[in-house]
Amino acid sequence: MKKVLVTGSNGLIGSEVCIHFGKPGFEIHGIDNNQRAIFFGPQGDTRWNQRRVSESVARFQHHEVDIRDKSGVESVIREVRPSLIVHTAAQPSHDLAASIPFDDFETNANGTLNLLQAARLHCTDTPFIFMSTNKVYGDSPNSIPLMELDKRWEYAEESARNGIPESFRVDQCTHSLFGASKLAADVMVQEYGRYFSMPTCCLRGGCLTGPNHSGVELHGFLSYLVKCNLEGREYRIYGYKGKQVRDNIHSADVVAFMDEFYKAPRCAEVYNLGGGSQNSCSILEAFEITEGITGKPQQYTYVDQNRTGDHICYYSDLRKMHQHYPQWKITRSLPDVIREISTSWQGRLSGTASGDVK
Ligand SMILES: NC(=O)c1ccc[n+]([C@@H]2O[C@H](COP(=O)([O-])OP(=O)(O)OC[C@H]3O[C@@H](n4cnc5c(N)ncnc54)[C@H](O)[C@@H]3O)[C@@H](O)[C@H]2O)c1
Repeated sequence: MKKVLVTGSNGLIGSEVCIHFGKPGFEIHGIDNNQRAIFFGPQGDTRWNQRRVSESVARFQHHEVDIRDKSGVESVIREVRPSLIVHTAAQPSHDLAASIPFDDFETNANGTLNLLQAARLHCTDTPFIFMSTNKVYGDSPNSIPLMELDKRWEYAEESARNGIPESFRVDQCTHSLFGASKLAADVMVQEYGRYFSMPTCCLRGGCLTGPNHSGVELHGFLSYLVKCNLEGREYRIYGYKGKQVRDNIHSADVVAFMDEFYKAPRCAEVYNLGGGSQNSCSILEAFEITEGITGKPQQYTYVDQNRTGDHICYYSDLRKMHQHYPQWKITRSLPDVIREISTSWQGRLSGTASGDVK
């Protein structure tokens, strides 16, 4: 029996990992304390998703542990001795971090260290996959020359249009406190890989999305945007004329990559994991696709001030991932992703989704 330990198992990515690996021959252990509801209030509550995972995975055990609790984390890892660790628990919001700097750093940086050290002590050969973020590059990508198109910003030079590579610089720029705490964790995950020869990897996510996100204004842009569209609620655009570009990847494609890494792990690797140029869109373009799918007009307001450290145009260069794991590819197009998000919200908002708690 293989054992998979997933932190943040009630969240978007964590739940997808649990369900993906929750097949015969696997036992899944989830760590989550529904901290997302503390961070974002009732709209961020993830218990509905915990219930969904428990109902879908035959061998699932939930551990109500806070990853900031060093001895709690160690005792789960000592007891389970997992064959794979996927660490997705986090304070995930760029903007929120400034108002809760200690909670943010203790969760993102110290929580990651607690997991790494426990893994080093009890299962040093176990692949350790960390969900990092493209915010480790801070606002440096904004220094790339851009051109303004009708509905989006785009890299001006052809040579930049493969997207942002893993070699992009990470320091001497503005990250947001969130980006800084995730970068601290990212570097530590690499260090445990190099220094202790542990099979670790950092996945520097673009916009990770999918039908099971509890999207809120401060985190989960596409999920929240579609929810606003369905409810006829105003979506607020912050700066850059709404033409700021993000790359979007379905959680199933994220987890498919994790599975490839699990089957052929490497040491101290770093990958930029996003939808790439093909799944990139600006906010205005996301409105347009969503309206086409739901048939409802998007209500929005515009705030001139952009979010501090926000990327004007960011999409991931996926070539290193394709080179190391040629089997892996993006399977969901952007309209497919938005369609799934819309269907999921319609079910949840009407209270008909399985395991729904409002
Ligand atoms: N969603 C994105 O767009 C995106 C982009 C880049 C990187 N990431 C990273 O990917 C990871 C997963 O993101 P997500 O969208 O699934 O987030 P999510 O908020 O949906 O899930 C995270 C889960 O972690 C749990 N959690 C938070 N703090 C905890 C703590 N102290 N102890 C135990 N559990 C705790 C939350 O309750 C939540 O269920 C995060 O590390 C995030 O920083 C996400």
